[in-house]
Amino acid sequence: MDMKQRIADLAAEMLHTAFPEAENLPDDLAALLEVPPDPALGDYAFPCFKLSRALRMGPPAIAQKMAAADAHPEVARVECVGGYLNFFFNRENFARELLSAILADPEKWGAGDEGSGKTVCMDYSSINIAKRFHLGHLSTTVIGNSLKRIYDFRGWKTVSINHLGDWGTQFGKMICAYKKWGDKEKVEQGGVDEMTRLYVRFNKEAAENPALEDEGRAWFKRIEDGDPEALEIFQWFKEVTLRDAMKVYDVLDVHFDSYAGESFYADKTGRVVQELQDKGLLKDSDGAKIVDLEAYGMPPCLILKSDGATLYHTRDIAAAIYRKETYHFDQSLYIVAYQQDLHFKQLFKVLELMGYDWAKDQCKHVSFGMVSYEGQAMATRSGHVVLLDELLTRAQEKALDIINEKSPNLENKEEVARQVGVGAVVYATLQNNRIKDIDFWWDRALNFDGETGPYVQYTHARCGSVLRKAPDELPSPNYAALTDDEAQALLRLLSRFPETVQEAALRNEPSMVTRATTEIAKAYNKYYYEHRILDEDAAATAARIDLTKACKQVIKTGLYLIGVHAPERM
Ligand code: ARG
Repeated sequence: MDMKQRIADLAAEMLHTAFPEAENLPDDLAALLEVPPDPALGDYAFPCFKLSRALRMGPPAIAQKMAAADAHPEVARVECVGGYLNFFFNRENFARELLSAILADPEKWGAGDEGSGKTVCMDYSSINIAKRFHLGHLSTTVIGNSLKRIYDFRGWKTVSINHLGDWGTQFGKMICAYKKWGDKEKVEQGGVDEMTRLYVRFNKEAAENPALEDEGRAWFKRIEDGDPEALEIFQWFKEVTLRDAMKVYDVLDVHFDSYAGESFYADKTGRVVQELQDKGLLKDSDGAKIVDLEAYGMPPCLILKSDGATLYHTRDIAAAIYRKETYHFDQSLYIVAYQQDLHFKQLFKVLELMGYDWAKDQCKHVSFGMVSYEGQAMATRSGHVVLLDELLTRAQEKALDIINEKSPNLENKEEVARQVGVGAVVYATLQNNRIKDIDFWWDRALNFDGETGPYVQYTHARCGSVLRKAPDELPSPNYAALTDDEAQALLRLLSRFPETVQEAALRNEPSMVTRATTEIAKAYNKYYYEHRILDEDAAATAARIDLTKACKQVIKTGLYLIGVHAPERM
């Protein structure tokens, strides 16, 4: 039940009754509706200013005439204030209709079908092989995961892609170092740390003995040429890296449809270079090949190094074209930190210059800010690295401490601690507009009272506890019990939830869902403190139980959409 549309229809009916002869009136009145800043001014306000010209009349007079034509008090009551028509829902009917609509198919509240028949590719997480999975990859992973869930919910076919950073001469060096000084057991045990150690040693020794560089390059050449031994070691490095990453993905409940990374495109870059050449876009620059982007105010896009090696950009061009040809996407999103803004601007421009018109409006860089940890920037160079698996483990331990203190008798404490700890981290990451930098603090993220994941989860569990206490048999609900301001405020938030989810997909902004869900939790708690939910009046109780059920499910959906579990008890 879309109240906005109901009010728009009502406004349209009033408009045509008041001005039967008028022409050139706007069709889409819903687009004109506003939400008044103060609920005392109504649920929706219709501004008459834009009608003034077509009707040759001042906005206040239009408002008066339209108000006189209202024939549906069961939908809303109308008041004129200046050039505005303020609509006040009929509270009892609103409660009845909204709750019936939500409870008819509770899990679908917020779902939509504007994406049906459409495909969106999403490139996120995209970790680098032989590098630690650190806090720097947290945002891309959880924003991407949330967007996947939101787009799925709005009917899109989603293709989630982990564009692994698994190509470059460093892998030749790493293999070379492994062959010289490595140990199979140690790599199996030490994983990425051991690979890093080998790589560091390689660079150190190569500084003394430059011939090593050639050996490293030769090993990379062997990977490029498909030499079985080189490929086997390289493949194994990848597996070891992914094995660690998988632990993080499992805890976060993140899944990918494809792990085609940079190496996957190695044999597809030849075509790109040829095509750039044929289209007259390739230029020489000190032996390297570039696409000149000066005319667009950007530095050149590097395509081939002077030794003929491809670059990050080259592989991204190949990947973009491959994704278009394979998935026929309607949108292709790159969820990558803002440091790569220029990279993607150049990428999309080169694709456009190649004649791929879709690059312009279908490819989007969904960028986001930096994450720092308790006031300290996260930089590998300063040696201050917060590893994601350690962070998530810490989160679970801390959550367990809190649960032990607050609910010592809870069953499955470990499980709940996992959901709460991880939820706190994910929620904190998706709390504010993605472009804002995040500073992560434990006491903030795990506070059960503030605007946090645990707070919202706790509200969900509270709804569950109310429902468990409700009598089994209840008469049919009396929705007149839900006409108070607190219930209505909550109902309004529930009714707007679907619009918010749609908007979140449109703007690629999961924080809109986080905020809407938090607002619902807050409104429920306010209601809970000010009203008795279970009381003698069984029909009133039944109505409040309906409200609680709807609220519980919408909170659960909201949390799901940002990638957070909703425990039944906490
Ligand atoms: N691996 C890169 C990094 O960690 C991110 C890759 C993003 N995706 C892309 N298609 N360029 O910085």
